Amino acid sequence: MTKVKKVKWGVLSTAEIGMKHVIPAMQQSQWCDIAALASRDQDAAQRAADSLGIPAAYGSYEQLLEDPEIEAVYIPLPNHLHVKWIRACIEAGKHVLCEKPLVLQAEEINELIDLRDASRLLIGEAFMVLHHPRWNRVKELISQGDIGELRAVSGFFSFFNRDSKNIRNSSDYGGGSIYDIGCYPVVISRYVFGAQPLKVAALLEYDPEFKIDRLSSVLMDFPTGQAMFTASTQLTPYQSVQIFGTRKKYDIPLPFNTPDDRPSQILSHAHDILEPDVVEETFDLCSHYTLQGDAFCRSIREGVPFAGSLEHAKQNAKVLDAIFRAAKSGGWEKV
Ligand SMILES: NC(=O)c1ccc[n+]([C@@H]2O[C@H](COP(=O)([O-])OP(=O)(O)OC[C@H]3O[C@@H](n4cnc5c(N)ncnc54)[C@H](OP(=O)(O)O)[C@@H]3O)[C@@H](O)[C@H]2O)c1
Repeated sequence: MTKVKKVKWGVLSTAEIGMKHVIPAMQQSQWCDIAALASRDQDAAQRAADSLGIPAAYGSYEQLLEDPEIEAVYIPLPNHLHVKWIRACIEAGKHVLCEKPLVLQAEEINELIDLRDASRLLIGEAFMVLHHPRWNRVKELISQGDIGELRAVSGFFSFFNRDSKNIRNSSDYGGGSIYDIGCYPVVISRYVFGAQPLKVAALLEYDPEFKIDRLSSVLMDFPTGQAMFTASTQLTPYQSVQIFGTRKKYDIPLPFNTPDDRPSQILSHAHDILEPDVVEETFDLCSHYTLQGDAFCRSIREGVPFAGSLEHAKQNAKVLDAIFRAAKSGGWEKV
């Protein structure tokens, strides 16, 4: 294996997704060196850095951005802080990989595109699903015509959380089911259709106390088919995606938080519904967070295009904008 010059990363915050999943996975990457972590509190930063063996701990995000050794920053901050800290990273001369959703409104991406183009630094959205070989294989099978003609996608993503302190339950922080998890079936539907939906309809139910969308059902009209999903932050935990073609149906178990400690599958059904001919394709253990880190570093070092580009993020954000408009108008809204 050729020796690569690892990218030196800094992380802004002690967020749960970083501490539990993304940082440990990036530490497994041959491309990533997690060199520093910052928190708003120096002791919290030190404890977090010690627990993951990260050499430097900073008591403010600004201090980390002043570290000349840091080349790239991973941002797992609450959604309403993404744009502010992406801007600060670019001004400090760092590449940025920021958690989804990158923005709360599509028009905010225009400024980020200008910043990226002027600085020649990378800005990416951390949709880890795009880097999992299982989703890449689904796309490949569809483009080979294995499913027949792709006509419909159906998704479900839910969990139960009514903790008033959780960022998902704050409307000021960009909480709610669409921003937090509905964005995944949007991204996956766009990915498998290879297109942007033309229009959407949506039914959103809001939590009376938190004022966030807690139960959301969405219909998306694509040029060559239809997609629908339900997302909820107040339902029993569940995830599924079914993909329907004229010849076959694919089931994708645990489609979004695909675990890295057990193999994942595509279950392909054809023929009779009572005696289905189920074919299982199994994928080796891997972490989509490690692969995402690899992909971002390869984009920095080798110019390989990154799947979660700003152009991709803008198309996602336009769909989310249309979903919120459609829920208000009660009709179809153009994307
Ligand atoms: N890709 C995925 O699989 C995935 C999964 C979950 C979440 N996410 C995304 O990751 C981001 C973080 O989610 P999370 O659940 O991990 O967040 P979290 O545990 O609530 O952590 C957010 C962190 O942001 C910092 N922060 C700065 N200002 C804050 C403020 N005003 N209020 C609260 N926290 C503040 C805090 O760190 P310090 O106190 O250390 O400064 C806090 O620990 C979100 O954008 C979410 O959509 C992605």
